[in-house]
Amino acid sequence: MSRFVHLVAGARPNFMKVAPLYHQLARADWCRPVLVHTGQHYSSEMSETFIRDLDLPTPDHQLSIGSGSHAEQTARCMIAYEKLCTLTAPDLVVVVGDVNSTMACALAAKKLGLDVAHLEAGLRSGDRSMPEEINRLVTDAIADLLWTPSPDADVNLRTEGVSENRIHRVGNIMIDAYELLRDRIEAAPGPSSLGLAGEDYAVVTLHRPSNVDTQTKLEELVSAVTQTAEQIRLVFPLHPRTSAALERFGMTAALKHPRIHLLSPLGYVDFMSLVRRARLVITDSGGLQEETTYLGVPCLTIRKNTERPITVTEGTNRLIDAADLPVAVAQCLADEAPAARRPELWDGHTAERVARSIREFFTARSA
Ligand code: UD1
Repeated sequence: MSRFVHLVAGARPNFMKVAPLYHQLARADWCRPVLVHTGQHYSSEMSETFIRDLDLPTPDHQLSIGSGSHAEQTARCMIAYEKLCTLTAPDLVVVVGDVNSTMACALAAKKLGLDVAHLEAGLRSGDRSMPEEINRLVTDAIADLLWTPSPDADVNLRTEGVSENRIHRVGNIMIDAYELLRDRIEAAPGPSSLGLAGEDYAVVTLHRPSNVDTQTKLEELVSAVTQTAEQIRLVFPLHPRTSAALERFGMTAALKHPRIHLLSPLGYVDFMSLVRRARLVITDSGGLQEETTYLGVPCLTIRKNTERPITVTEGTNRLIDAADLPVAVAQCLADEAPAARRPELWDGHTAERVARSIREFFTARSA
């Protein structure tokens, strides 16, 4: 009997995590993956481009929840997903990452008594002012299966009293997405499409509320970024949250600089083709800290903390304050590339391990 597994994706970083698992489960004869798009991200550059790049089909269900305050977005997602689950009764709900859709769907499903699994469980920044930290804590507290990417995540869950039988270390699914598309990423023009062939450049992405939502922080950031452009060319695809904040505070012009290439958000293949050849990356994203570690590209993360400490201890990542960016970049440019190790199980085979775990879970449930 084929089991129905909902794979829930809502925002841009979810599609990379869902795609390798979707393709793995689509090949199995014991289950059917059902793609649920909550619509938290809805513009084509934040959603459809990724679905296309990652060879995902048109989602089976589109909840179209859109933007709003945290409560509005979460509530709309819960209501829509509860309806869908009542109609379709999936055998397992898989949520990924830490966005509002992740927590909302986990909550709605669990309250209907459905089994829920969380992919990328156990990550903790220790900073409860981050909306993602709240989403991670709530999701992990209620999910039946917790698939973790690294040993620190296992320790976090044990410390919170999670029983051993719910914790399964499977590795990092983001690396599967990269490996799935490696040929296309390597064949893409990357820097030459921007006239940067053979040049040193840094990729910049910044969108965390803590960095861009207040005028003071954003001013500090814009000043640090424009000073940095004196040292190295910058390629900066602007996240919608960041563009909106720049507009709101009248700062769009302040970022204009001959050595800063401001771009709209890029698709996965085009973006990764720029990252793999970058001299360094400046970011506040979660996923990029992992991708740069995997690719051996130095990464400066403008945050006070990270839920991905393994990228600092084993990888190429360093946490810095915005004000220290120009000095940190100068150091990076003067130094040899950091000696980094790829963390254990960041090997492109995470989707296989997750599929095995799902199968064992179904077998145990029907025993
Ligand atoms: C969300 C996630 C964050 C993740 C990020 C990746 C939460 C709490 N945050 O943040 O963890 O790193 O996605 O992108 O879930 N907007 C568009 N087009 C879209 C989607 C959003 O223009 O397709 C605009 C909206 O008007 C909104 C703003 O971008 O005001 C922010 O979107 P939202 O989904 O609320 O959060 P993100 O900042 O994208």
